Amino acid sequence: MLIRYNKNYEKIAMGLLSFNPNEKELQNLLKTINEYDKEQNLQLYLWKEEEGIIGVVGIELNDQEILLHHLSVNPSHRDKGFGKLMVEALLEIYPDNTLSPTETTASFLEKLDLAKETKMEHKNKRPVTI
Ligand SMILES: CC(C)(COP(=O)(O)OP(=O)(O)OC[C@H]1O[C@@H](n2cnc3c(N)ncnc32)[C@H](O)[C@@H]1OP(=O)(O)O)[C@@H](O)C(=O)NCCC(=O)NCCS
Repeated sequence: MLIRYNKNYEKIAMGLLSFNPNEKELQNLLKTINEYDKEQNLQLYLWKEEEGIIGVVGIELNDQEILLHHLSVNPSHRDKGFGKLMVEALLEIYPDNTLSPTETTASFLEKLDLAKETKMEHKNKRPVTI
C-alpha cells in the first residue's frame, strides 16, 4: 500500500532514498528530503507491507506529467515485484498523467514496459502512447 510521506517517516524515508544513485552523500540526502517536505509539486510516497515500510517513490508533478525522480526498495525485498507495484499504484493515484523517467529511473521504467499499459513518455525520446 502506498502512503504519503510525513515527518514521522523521515529516518526510514532517508534510509530508503539513500539506495538511489544520486543520494549516497548525506548532504544530498538531507537536501532531497527537505525539498520533498517543502516543495508542493514534489511528492514522496512510502510502500507499506505488513512487516513495515519497504520502499519509497519520489515524484515531481508538472501539469499532466509525473517525473519519477526516486524509486527504491529495501534490498531484502527486491526482485519480488514491489518496484513494479509501486509504479502501478502511483499511476492509479494519477491516472490522467504521463509518467516520465529521469536519467536514473529510465532503465527500470523501460524494463517495466508500462507503455503497453499506460501513458508513458521517455524524456528526449519520441513519446510512446497507448
Ligand atoms: C530499482 C528497484 C526499485 C527495483 O525494485 P524491485 O522491487 O526489485 O523491482 P521488481 O521486483 O518489480 O523488478 C525486478 C526486476 O527489475 C530489474 N531491475 C532492477 N533495477 C533495475 C534497473 N535500475 N534498471 C533496469 N532493470 C532493473 C531486476 O533485475 C529484475 O529483473 P528480472 O525480473 O528480469 O529479474 C530496486 O532494485 C532498487 O531499490 N534499486 C536501488 C535504487 C535505484 O537504483 N533506483 C534507481 C532506479 S529505479
